[in-house]
Amino acid sequence: MTCSDEQPPRGGGTIPEPFIRGVLSGLLTALRIRDAETIAHCRRVATYSLLLAEMIGFHPTRRDELAVGALLHDIGKIGLADAVLRKPGPLSAEEFRHVQTHPVVGFEMVRDALAPYPLALGVIRSHHERFDGRGYPDGLSGRDIPLAARMFSVVDAFDAMTTDRPYAPARSVEGALAELRRHRGSQFCPDCLDAFLALERSLLDGVRRGSVDRVDRYLNGLTLPPTDGAGHGPGPGPAFSGV
Ligand SMILES: [Fe+2]
Ligand SMILES: [Fe+2]
Repeated sequence: MTCSDEQPPRGGGTIPEPFIRGVLSGLLTALRIRDAETIAHCRRVATYSLLLAEMIGFHPTRRDELAVGALLHDIGKIGLADAVLRKPGPLSAEEFRHVQTHPVVGFEMVRDALAPYPLALGVIRSHHERFDGRGYPDGLSGRDIPLAARMFSVVDAFDAMTTDRPYAPARSVEGALAELRRHRGSQFCPDCLDAFLALERSLLDGVRRGSVDRVDRYLNGLTLPPTDGAGHGPGPGPAFSGV
């Protein structure tokens, strides 16, 4: 399966692993301390993104960028007020406007570090854009939205629906896929959604349950410090173990 605007890989090869691990380690540690559930979400959506990239036929060097963008997509949530980040109930209009700042905050945080990797930056800035132009922060529509961000918005929504949230219990894989189909061409890029729908259901269910995970390659060797003892993780160990 292909998406017509996939670009050939640029020169320069893959992201230098020591560099990117350093960036990932610091940023993800900070995010974990703020919001452990967001980290678990980032790990799952990075794996879904890699599976979707394989289905679409992304060159491996571009898959690296997509995975990094997926892992860091919500890094801007570090900048959200606790009262909003940790609010269990529905958000007010003003609180929602505050949440809507996180793609640009995240983009500004990593713009220099990830300057050679615009695909990753595109995911961070544009993952809440909608195909019909009603998303944020830039109101892009259709193929003006970077392909990686169009792909990512599908997996982001799928993960949100298939995990328990304060405001809604998890849906089944099939129930979430049906909901995605209802928004084909409005919220989601039709090509990207069709590619995601072609993935094996057992694979999707494996990611949801944590038995399928493709991001170790980006995180091996990282050790995150213990968190504050408020239920945000088991303490030192391999990256994200037990989160
Ligand atoms: Fe987000
Ligand atoms: Fe997300």
